[in-house]
Amino acid sequence: MVAQIMSGLAVAQDVKERVKTAVKDLKASGIIPCLATVLVGNDPASATYVNNKQKTAKELGIATRDHRVAGTFKQQELLELVQLLNRDSEVHGILVQLPLPGHIDEFAIINTINPLKDVDGLTPYSAGMLQNGMALLKPCTPLGIMELFDYYKIALEGKHVVIINRSNLVGKPLLLMLLERNATVTVCHSRTKGIAAYLRQADIVISAVGNRDRFTLTADMIKEGAIIIDVATSRINGKLVGDVDFEAVKLKASWITPVPGGVGPMTIAMLMKNTVSAASVSSRRTSA
Ligand code: GUN
Repeated sequence: MVAQIMSGLAVAQDVKERVKTAVKDLKASGIIPCLATVLVGNDPASATYVNNKQKTAKELGIATRDHRVAGTFKQQELLELVQLLNRDSEVHGILVQLPLPGHIDEFAIINTINPLKDVDGLTPYSAGMLQNGMALLKPCTPLGIMELFDYYKIALEGKHVVIINRSNLVGKPLLLMLLERNATVTVCHSRTKGIAAYLRQADIVISAVGNRDRFTLTADMIKEGAIIIDVATSRINGKLVGDVDFEAVKLKASWITPVPGGVGPMTIAMLMKNTVSAASVSSRRTSA
């Protein structure tokens, strides 16, 4: 078996075309969707992510604010910046790029974002709404993975999905979204004992470790015909790779996402979709 490729590039393009149309419609009704990004410090990977988010927003006609502050920025200063963006009626979405420097309490910052502008879907409000199946804004990477499943018509009901990640950004929201679609979900992480036994049973593996020295998903670990979603990005000799030994695993899997060009572009596309959703809701509130 040679796996079929789930192209995040192609699906993201499709999502972005729809977002572009939605932006035009909003503009016709007098609303210019606007995304504000906040980057603290000069971590090169985070800067690249923020640059890509800014660039994509502009390509789709979404207005942007681009706040970049030094790594020494104080927690109180960052809280005030978020509050300023909360109050700014022209801003519909606020994204604070993570991780934040160690002296800043990430939860305190995320918890300050107005949930109606929470285009990352990370506030406690959004997380609680997701748990209740009521969220409007959901975390972008899990949302992008669900979009890939839907685009390629991959049924989830009754499937055993093994996620290797338990973060608020990826593992926990994915668990909830997959449960909502009637999958059976196992969440593995760095302290899981005997991970191989879980992986061997999995119909779908979603791997988001991001450290090839610690973990590589190899062909012997998976079931014949499994579906493999690679969320991670790391570098080997300067080359961008995921968690998966792609060339070997694609000979045993039925579907697989590449790195690059898999989940990464989907995350950005879903951020744009969330920004338009937030702008649409704000317009309904204004006109009510
Ligand atoms: N850092 C890595 N991924 C993300 C993301 O989706 N949102 C934010 N805010 N920070 C990140």
